[in-house]
Amino acid sequence: MRSKITIIGAGNVGATCAQRLAERDYADIILIDIIEGMPQGKALDLLESGPITSNSSLITGSNSYEESANSDIVIITSGVARKPGMSRDDLIATNSKIIKDVVENVVKFSPDCVIIVVANPLDIMAQLTLKISNFPRSRVLGMSGILDTGRFKTFIAQELNVSVEDISAFVLGGHGDAMIPLPRLASVGGIPLTEMLPEESIKNIVERTVNGGAEIVSLLKTGSAFYAPSAAVAQMVDAVVLDKKKILPCAAYLDGEYDIKGVFLGVPVKLGKDGIEQIIEVNLTTEESAALKQSAEAVRTLFNDINL
Ligand code: APR
Repeated sequence: MRSKITIIGAGNVGATCAQRLAERDYADIILIDIIEGMPQGKALDLLESGPITSNSSLITGSNSYEESANSDIVIITSGVARKPGMSRDDLIATNSKIIKDVVENVVKFSPDCVIIVVANPLDIMAQLTLKISNFPRSRVLGMSGILDTGRFKTFIAQELNVSVEDISAFVLGGHGDAMIPLPRLASVGGIPLTEMLPEESIKNIVERTVNGGAEIVSLLKTGSAFYAPSAAVAQMVDAVVLDKKKILPCAAYLDGEYDIKGVFLGVPVKLGKDGIEQIIEVNLTTEESAALKQSAEAVRTLFNDINL
């Protein structure tokens, strides 16, 4: 049976996710937005692409949630995006209100779904989603680590002039200034990155990765990244729809893992049909562990400040 996937927010990230998923041809897709006509128009445009791209995904646009009933996966991209000079945390007041309204509807219409949160500030919005939905933590996850890792791998590949496919790496921690790319565990064709590049180059790559989102915002000027974010969402959806049990860095609610309790943070997880099947604990150095705990405290403070 085909899966049913709802995408909330039909803007840059939402519409690009819809296109990537429609072309995979394993699910029917509902695109929801508050702007009248816009999700319907984009859905129809995508539907009319099917005969050309050879996929029979049904895509429906809507301004209400009825059509989304009993979705297997719900992707939340609704919310405002950053403009130059803004941090992800500046979005918190506006996006919290949107998340609250959206999640109440998601729970009402799709009580058994897996929720993938994309709206920023990511870890805070994912935590708010878990709280409002009251879902088990395995069914609420955030998209950030795959994106940050994608940026990390891109810059490593550029520096070495090798294929991005040869790079194995991941980024831990919050989706913001406190993210922690881990060069110590990165490799290129199986060779440790630390043997391939001098310390100074690695330091520059780490810094560019941490500022990767802001780099795009300053170039676009009117919004934030959406091609790589939608590619990351599609990889997470693949893992759930196809029960791939892939190990991917995602934002997950920690309940004692890494000695951290009660916050969302980016960690490697095993993703399958039921959502997060396992949180993988990596042995960290004292400095890495301290940085992760600092990242967790930043999320906790911001979350506790939300006033809905
Ligand atoms: N319900 C449904 N859709 C909503 C709601 C709501 N309550 N509020 C806003 N939206 C819609 C907007 O109408 C808009 O079409 O969300 C869409 C957001 O799209 P964009 O402005 O293009 O933003 P986008 O680049 O897609 O980013 C969305 O993802 O990466 C994060 O930081 C980014 O928080 C931002 C989110």
